[in-house]
Amino acid sequence: MTATRIDGKAFAATVRAKVATHVSHLKETHDLTPGLAVVLVGEDPASQVYVRSKGKQTVEVGMHSVEHKLDADTPEADLLALVETLNQDPAIHGILVQLPLPDHVNADKVINAIDPAKDVDGFHISNVGLLGTGQKSMVPCTPLGCLMMLRDHHGSLSGLNAVVLGRSNIVGKPMAQLLLGDSCTVTIAHSRTKDLPEVVRGADIVVAAVGRPQMVPGDWIKPGATVIDVGINRIEKPEGGTRLVGDCDFDSCAEVAGAITPVPGGVGPMTIACLLANTLTACCRAHGLPEPEGLTA
Ligand code: GUN
Repeated sequence: MTATRIDGKAFAATVRAKVATHVSHLKETHDLTPGLAVVLVGEDPASQVYVRSKGKQTVEVGMHSVEHKLDADTPEADLLALVETLNQDPAIHGILVQLPLPDHVNADKVINAIDPAKDVDGFHISNVGLLGTGQKSMVPCTPLGCLMMLRDHHGSLSGLNAVVLGRSNIVGKPMAQLLLGDSCTVTIAHSRTKDLPEVVRGADIVVAAVGRPQMVPGDWIKPGATVIDVGINRIEKPEGGTRLVGDCDFDSCAEVAGAITPVPGGVGPMTIACLLANTLTACCRAHGLPEPEGLTA
């Protein structure tokens, strides 16, 4: 391996430490505690794991954490009523409704019912529009974490060619907007892109977010490029059992890249750290206080 390994786990710990310092300062100077409410509908096992982890880390940085666990058959109207109660609650600065929601609930309707100022996922249509027009917004956590790691590694991203693989609303599209905001030349590539290997070979920065295990081989990577792997895919091991892999083939990409995030331990830990950062930012904005430096886009 020749690439520098970008340690997302360690980076996330430094982000949480910064958040914790700000939170204790807010308490001392303004008697203010940022609050995050997480809403989980149903019993999807992966979602339960995420929500538990979010709650634990929220408390660890000194924030107020509230969890609402609702039955899978909760009517949409009840969910909308809960969101409205949280919108009005002055102790809550961030609201996250865990996705996916059950089929009988219109997820867009629920997300767009969240007060955009409390939308720490950055999924509300107002925040999407603000990000797309380069205005101050709440930024989705996974792309924000990727941006922080890229800025930390490169300093300035200005003028670099960035290829984002994947066009999802949660990662691909906001990632492209953030890279454009940092003056990269941005290409969004996807399943219909012609000559994908050649497109990726032109990239100084590759962000892979397609959800296809080990899809990107090392010979697609420009020597010295930075590879940010958002994928988390579980595959069978030849000897039995399973393991987690990214969207990039780590070993061959690491032979060519200048820097690469591992899976696990790369982008994943940054997502919750950025959720905490967003909750702190939302709290500061709600009270007209200066935003924490280095924790926003
Ligand atoms: N489910 C999986 N990831 C996420 C996320 O980042 N936000 C929400 N709300 N739900 C998710």
